[in-house]
Amino acid sequence: MAFPTETVYGLGADAGNPDAVKKIFAAKGRPQDHPLIVHIADMAQMANWARNIPPSAQRLARNFWPGPLTIILQRGPGVSDLVTGGQDTVGLRVPSHPVAQALLRAFDGGIAAPSANRFGRVSATTAEHVRREFGNVIDLVLDGGASAVGIESTIVDLSGRQATLLRPGWITAEQLEEALGMPLASPDSRSPRAPGALARHYAPRTRLMLLETDLLLELAASLTRQGKRVAVLAHSVLRPILPDITWIAAPRDVSGYAHDLYANLRRLDDAGCDAILVEAPPQEAPWSAVADRLTRAATGVGESLS
Ligand code: TXA
Ligand code: MG
Repeated sequence: MAFPTETVYGLGADAGNPDAVKKIFAAKGRPQDHPLIVHIADMAQMANWARNIPPSAQRLARNFWPGPLTIILQRGPGVSDLVTGGQDTVGLRVPSHPVAQALLRAFDGGIAAPSANRFGRVSATTAEHVRREFGNVIDLVLDGGASAVGIESTIVDLSGRQATLLRPGWITAEQLEEALGMPLASPDSRSPRAPGALARHYAPRTRLMLLETDLLLELAASLTRQGKRVAVLAHSVLRPILPDITWIAAPRDVSGYAHDLYANLRRLDDAGCDAILVEAPPQEAPWSAVADRLTRAATGVGESLS
């Protein structure tokens, strides 16, 4: 079953039922050692899934839940290895989308859910995109409209001694540091694996290149001259006069840009061009989550970490 959240759509199963959770891996084509986030209705349910919950986790939960934040904690007894990918941690999130909230309250348990896309591909931010991604493989898609945020939750690891940012997202590192009253660490070899951090992820089928504005315009012109078909995602430059170019002018503000990002990548991919050229986003803190997704979407298969 797929359901809407404020970040992206999730492909959900009863986190307490290993047979149900197995079906998620089958549908996504996802390797079994990749852990799933357990979605819960409120912070009171944290103790059902985690143990040794530090005060910092309570603090972040109070500040940012319901909302686009996932907290990694030491796993509680009885949490399935399928959910945790065999690690001794569990990821928890309380989504704010009203449909997700209603679902979790009615279900009265944890729902394990990855983003509702095939492994490594562009996440889905509408029910229609989920249906196109999976066809008849999933029987039910709850339609809650377009996801408000548009990119996946921020992931912070609080299972060890130092709070660590594992995935940038709408809630920024600065916001977390302010709430925690201390700096976040960067992941090191002891951090829990977050395979969403794979170098290649969120990728369309068409080759995607991330380019500074001038270079993008030059390359678009030269590829077009060679008879290649080019699709462009720009946010600051106007469309040049080039024949047969697919051009999307993305919003200039980061929230609009993030909201439309995956739908835009799908449109550019569907245009069936020889290359997708994306104008590099501003190098400013609020854009870091968007820059992270674009960099991974652009990484060539040969450069993938695993
Ligand atoms: O916004 C979101 O987080 C969406 C919506 C549906 O909630 N979900 C999502 O799930 O993005 P997924 O599976 O596509 O990405 C979750 C990431 C993966 O990279 C996974 O490895 C990591 O979270 N993760 C989950 N549990 C973890 C754990 N115990 N330790 C380390 N990383 C974990
Ligand atoms: Mg995902």
